[in-house]
Amino acid sequence: MEYQPLIEAALAAREFAYVPYSGFAVGAALLTKSGKVYTGCNVESASYTPSNCAERTAVFKAVSEGEREFLAIAIAAGPVGEKAPLSRYVSPCGVCRQVLREFDKGDMQVILCRDVEDFQVHTLAELLPFSFAEEDMGR
Ligand code: THU
Repeated sequence: MEYQPLIEAALAAREFAYVPYSGFAVGAALLTKSGKVYTGCNVESASYTPSNCAERTAVFKAVSEGEREFLAIAIAAGPVGEKAPLSRYVSPCGVCRQVLREFDKGDMQVILCRDVEDFQVHTLAELLPFSFAEEDMGR
């Protein structure tokens, strides 16, 4: 897989983060099996709890447009104003891991990015071992 375009999309989406409370800007780019890319950023609220992570923004955009099969998600995060190379590889929060798991067939890749040429690749299964999903409900 060619990761660079997906990483560029995550870095670009991060610029749209609406983060007046945390000051921590996150961008995500989700690649569908059909070859489309859906981006997302985190969107915060003055009442805090309704805030949405970048990863879930991307997943919900994609699913709401009929996509359910995903190959990979790239994530780029850091304080507002920080430019690539970002200082850390930031991994998705537990809630976002569970949302991604809903659509994982066991091979979804999670790309943690500092820059276009500086990234780590993991599988979601690595990040969320012993996960709970539909098959555990005997369905
Ligand atoms: N955030 C994300 O967008 N993705 C993550 O995986 C971790 C956290 C956001 C939520 C909040 O807007 C800010 O980062 C600080 O937690």
